[in-house]
Amino acid sequence: MLIFTPFCISTNSGTHMSRTILILNGPNLNLLGMRQPEIYGHETLADVEASCRALGKELDVGLEFHQSNREYEIIDWIHAARETAAGIIINPGAFTHTSVAILDALNTFEAPVIEVHISNVYKREEFRHHSFISKRADAVMAGFGVHGYVLALRHMARLLTAPR
Ligand code: DQA
Repeated sequence: MLIFTPFCISTNSGTHMSRTILILNGPNLNLLGMRQPEIYGHETLADVEASCRALGKELDVGLEFHQSNREYEIIDWIHAARETAAGIIINPGAFTHTSVAILDALNTFEAPVIEVHISNVYKREEFRHHSFISKRADAVMAGFGVHGYVLALRHMARLLTAPR
């Protein structure tokens, strides 16, 4: 039997504190830096990961960083995070606007979730204005460029240490 409290994970094998944050990226974000740079900028996903890892060290949190173009893979990472992660930062890409399945997976995760969008989706096409993920997210960042990831990470680290 698994019992989750936000940052303390209890399993049959005992209780441990997790300081690992899972950062997930959805479809087409592997092409960051090349894909529509006028919207998403010139930094690559590897640059984003490097900035997050540098900040993670400073904040003393562990990071797992993934990208996939496949919905099921993102869902599997969220399921695994139920036992390993203290929080999830997710840029679901276009799955934001379509995926009830990712929303359902996030609803099984009991620690904080932050949704990140590089662009300001509200300034763009109407179909980008609706997010299934926002129904679960504790916070949403949009329009900060790739800087949004480190801002989200800073906020997540605060949530992990804030008195509840
Ligand atoms: C995005 C916005 C989505 O609408 C789009 O499909 C993406 C990237 C963003 O980071 O701004 O792939 O999530």
